[in-house]
Amino acid sequence: MAKISFAKGRESIEVEAGTNLMQALTKAGVPVASSCKGKLVCGKCYIEVVEGSYNLSSASEEERDFMDLKDIPSGCRMACACQIEGDVCLDTPYW
Ligand code: FES
Repeated sequence: MAKISFAKGRESIEVEAGTNLMQALTKAGVPVASSCKGKLVCGKCYIEVVEGSYNLSSASEEERDFMDLKDIPSGCRMACACQIEGDVCLDTPYW
């Protein structure tokens, strides 16, 4: 299991380690912005990783290129493109 804590406003949740981050969050009832259903197209699902970035899977070349293209702030990950492997603290502007 892996714990996801939130920089503001939400109780921590426990999720299955190795799960896609977007799927883990939405399964736990935490909204993730998206209009492409996790296909790494819309650019809306980026999430700031406040702590524990080493507990997410390494960014693929596709994710890195996409983040450059969409001007995603550094310190963020595309929730639909990474797996959670351990404890992290996350934030978005809409939580
Ligand atoms: S859900 Fe659209 S880019 Fe991640």
